[in-house]
Amino acid sequence: MKFFIDTANLAQIKEAHDLGILDGVTTNPSLMAKEGVKGDEAIRNHYKTICELVDGDVSAEVFSTDFESMVAEGKVLAAIHPNIVVKVPMIKDGIKALKWFSDNGIKTNCTLIFSAGQAILAAKAGANYVSPFIGRIDDSGWDGMELIGQIAQIYALQGFKAEILAASIRSSLHIVRAAELGANVCTCPLEPILGLLKHPLTDIGLAKFLDDAKKMQH
Ligand code: E4P
Repeated sequence: MKFFIDTANLAQIKEAHDLGILDGVTTNPSLMAKEGVKGDEAIRNHYKTICELVDGDVSAEVFSTDFESMVAEGKVLAAIHPNIVVKVPMIKDGIKALKWFSDNGIKTNCTLIFSAGQAILAAKAGANYVSPFIGRIDDSGWDGMELIGQIAQIYALQGFKAEILAASIRSSLHIVRAAELGANVCTCPLEPILGLLKHPLTDIGLAKFLDDAKKMQH
């Protein structure tokens, strides 16, 4: 399973990259706005900086919602760096845009997936990544992980090539469950990734080993 970080914060991207396990980055308009990025040129420069930090796919989302504008915007985004993946929302014109990008060799990530039907349509349109939003489904009282399992089963059965990108991941356990259920990628903030490190028995065990190591030095 690939690890993407879900942020536009350069310090956090760098910290995850320095761990040596980072395969890519996902952003969205909310995450970009949170970093105070303003204006078309600043937005393009920010994506470029991220692409220079991480050697892997970097999702950059279109802001428009009609086919022509999404294609125009996607072309500009894709021209920033070869690792840019154009992120397209799951709407009718988004499906048309996914197909256009797929036919024209531009990689895509279909975002805001909340059902298996949407995941089928996105894969059919040629999306490279399909992003079910686990945490937001859980927030609304449904089981986000059930959707990951369902999409994985359908894609395997039908031979769809799209990669399942488990998004809106809120905890380390989400990462583990997504891996168990066959997600190809998980994207989340830095904390759930660092949370995978933790186990109290590791801390207790290491303290004992270090203590005993000291005994051998005298
Ligand atoms: C995915 O690409 C989205 O940017 C993201 O995972 C949304 O997560 P949130 O529900 O925590 O905002």
